[in-house]
Amino acid sequence: MRKNKRFRLLYDEFNQAGASFQDAERAKLWEERARKLGGDPAAGVERVRRCLGIRPNDVLADIGAGAGVFAAAIAQHCRHVYAVDISPHMLELAKQKAKAKGIKNISFIHAGFLTLDLKNKKCDHVVAMVSLHHLPDFWKMVALRRIYHILRDGGKLYISDPAHSFDIDDYKNIFTRDIKEIEKKTHDAGLVEDAATTIREEFATFDWIM
Ligand SMILES: C[S@@+](CC[C@H](N)C(=O)[O-])C[C@H]1O[C@@H](n2cnc3c(N)ncnc32)[C@H](O)[C@@H]1O
Repeated sequence: MRKNKRFRLLYDEFNQAGASFQDAERAKLWEERARKLGGDPAAGVERVRRCLGIRPNDVLADIGAGAGVFAAAIAQHCRHVYAVDISPHMLELAKQKAKAKGIKNISFIHAGFLTLDLKNKKCDHVVAMVSLHHLPDFWKMVALRRIYHILRDGGKLYISDPAHSFDIDDYKNIFTRDIKEIEKKTHDAGLVEDAATTIREEFATFDWIM
């Protein structure tokens, strides 16, 4: 009798495509580069806090928390934060940051959108900053369904992610323009290389899909 062959059907989110954060050096570089690209991280934290209406008793999950800048800042405004990331190196940096600041209300979870299991605990807010585009579109949708189930009724999701809003015939001009802008703004050849990899190999999608 033939045995049924078992297939792995879930997308392997731990095997990240593109400019990966799966080594310690790269994880360290991200924080410095994010600053060069995005300016003052504190301003971003305040914007999200106001937009979500975060209150002192709230619980929040930061999925794709990276080096933990947002998690450490927002932990001071809510009861508990789950800092979730597929990269152990990013999580290590996030842990060090929280420890240095004496922050004790963050749990660090090595998982991703598709594998996070909070054992039926609910969140008031989920935040995904520059992380959802690491999943192909179908798996983005699976991720959103899973987020829906970890949010309590009336809970809120905040996504900040690249999305393409140009005519498809213009893609070469637009991507070239974006790369030139990053070059001009950062003068960081490694960062520019990573930005090109992000364009080429990661899964930023159309704004209308988002
Ligand atoms: C561009 S960094 C952004 C980090 C942080 N949110 C920030 O804004 O500084 C993307 C992060 O998403 C993580 N990541 C990639 N795929 C993921 C997934 N499927 N689930 C959760 N995190 C993921 C990466 O390890 C990385 O730390």
